[in-house]
Amino acid sequence: MISFVGAGPGNTDLITVKGRKLLQEADMVIYTGSLVSKDHLKCCKDSCEIYNSASMTLEEIVDKMEKAARKELKVVRLHTGDPTIYGAIREQMDLLDEKGIDYEVIPGVSSFTAACSAIKREFTLPNVSQTIILTRIEGKTKVPEEESLELLAKHKASMALFLSVRYMDRLVEKLKKGYGREDVPVAVVYKVTWEDEKIIIGTLKDIKEKVERAGITKTALILVGDFIKGEYERSKLYDPSFSHEYREASK
Ligand SMILES: C[S@@+](CC[C@H](N)C(=O)[O-])C[C@H]1O[C@@H](n2cnc3c(N)ncnc32)[C@H](O)[C@@H]1O
Repeated sequence: MISFVGAGPGNTDLITVKGRKLLQEADMVIYTGSLVSKDHLKCCKDSCEIYNSASMTLEEIVDKMEKAARKELKVVRLHTGDPTIYGAIREQMDLLDEKGIDYEVIPGVSSFTAACSAIKREFTLPNVSQTIILTRIEGKTKVPEEESLELLAKHKASMALFLSVRYMDRLVEKLKKGYGREDVPVAVVYKVTWEDEKIIIGTLKDIKEKVERAGITKTALILVGDFIKGEYERSKLYDPSFSHEYREASK
């Protein structure tokens, strides 16, 4: 069986129990060397074949997985964070489908939730935003025009931007236009849950300079929105005057 497994954002304790078990039992692991901690591989059997996908093509990766699967070996394809977000797993799964090879996908802790936890905030606050937009600015990969940052920012929803920290200039300008103000809070979290994690807090007005000063050019999540700083309403769930399925309102 081939298992696509989410390794989580960095710290090896943040993989799921199921993911760790699959790693322990694997005969072959292909891991995303650019972002997955090598410490995850310490739990693998001595006989486990290990490959770093950073220097491999899609065809090479799928070929290795196919050969192992045909021999009924257990294969883990270890991806950073959650494999379903910017994981480039669809193209691997489609090739496996063409070859009639079965696989499963095991979710992981994405870096965007880890980043929100690192700054001790909640994306979804009553009277602030009930929506999270996960996106990126256009780089080498095109982004559909309807999803331009300027348009998305007009929603004033909580935002998490992947793969974008090297384009702070363009990003800040687009967000300012969309929000129509400069004082929108921004948090940039570099290598969240790794030992060299860095957190930079600012606003659309000053975040670019702060990020430049910190020398951050990659592996960062950019969180944007008023959920980071400002007023919000209490939840109905724990409001004493509100009844629901599990609790009567107190008088
Ligand atoms: C190819 S995407 C993979 C995302 C991953 N699947 C996830 O769910 O987190 C890589 C981007 O995710 C973000 N990222 C991944 N791991 C991170 C970490 N530990 N700290 C901060 N950002 C991270 C960065 O924006 C990075 O450029």
